Amino acid sequence: MRKIGVLTSGGDAPGMNPGVRAVVRTAIYRGLEVVGIRRGYAGLLDGDLKPMQLESVGDIIQRGGTFLYTARCLEFLTEEGQRQGYERLQKEGIDGLIVFGGDGSFRGAQKLHQLGIRTIGVPSTIDNDIGACDANIGFDTAVQTAIEAIDKIRDTATSHERTYVVEVMGRSAGHIALAAGLAGGAESVLIPEVPYKLEDVVAKLKRGVARGKKHSIIVVAEGAGQGGEIGRYIEQHTGFDTRVTVLGHVQRGGAPSAADRVLASRLGAHAVDLCLQGISGHMAATVNHELTSVPFDEVFASHRQPSLPVYQLADILST
Ligand code: F6P
Repeated sequence: MRKIGVLTSGGDAPGMNPGVRAVVRTAIYRGLEVVGIRRGYAGLLDGDLKPMQLESVGDIIQRGGTFLYTARCLEFLTEEGQRQGYERLQKEGIDGLIVFGGDGSFRGAQKLHQLGIRTIGVPSTIDNDIGACDANIGFDTAVQTAIEAIDKIRDTATSHERTYVVEVMGRSAGHIALAAGLAGGAESVLIPEVPYKLEDVVAKLKRGVARGKKHSIIVVAEGAGQGGEIGRYIEQHTGFDTRVTVLGHVQRGGAPSAADRVLASRLGAHAVDLCLQGISGHMAATVNHELTSVPFDEVFASHRQPSLPVYQLADILST
């Protein structure tokens, strides 16, 4: 193997930059040429490629987002698009590809692997829904961002003796909501993986107020319901002054946390080494903190579930 490509795809995640930095510097250290592919698979199809040197990735370890840009590319979902991507890589002499992204990005990587390109995925999504590994790059930072927002909301909730509903991201998974809800001391955490009844949420709120609670925070995962609707229901059924905050894309930005920088650095470097060992169609991962790799098929078959004991703990501690 002589030349590898690296791209970031799908929703950006804080930590992609230190991850790409690790790929570029490890590859050069191992004697490889590296090409950065901008705007994910869309840039691959357009030929938006840039040779990378050691200095190309200077001063990015602390930056959120992805300096390679990213995109969700519908064309790459088609067989024609995948073949064009393969041909572009062949033409450029790129024999290995490292893809930072989530499930959809890995499915594209799997296709390139099947067409004969040595391909390694690096799990990068704030949703933390890529299973078969300890954690996904970006999740730790997103939870920290959510907690900082919840802490601030708590200040004003206390001052005004209000109820707040805070809607967090996560697509169809409740990992951000559960972690931010527990760490933020929320009265209720609503996640898609655990059925809930709004009447129970209301009853718990009323019990709290009867015991003297002056304010409450409900954290809802976007996959479990709309903050606005839940806020209206609560206000109608309690009469409590209720406000709703949708945190939205603020959770995707910001400097990556130390944990995300360390994870991204380890996984980026490991992805290069896996490529050099001839491994392909795998995700670079840490399992029990040890570096390993997991075939894409196993990754697709496993879906990370939020921990039920942690969910129950959040409920117990919030009474
Ligand atoms: O997958 C990351 C994520 O931020 C999800 O939590 C969210 O549902 C989605 O992306 C938002 O996508 P977009 O940035 O395309 O609006």
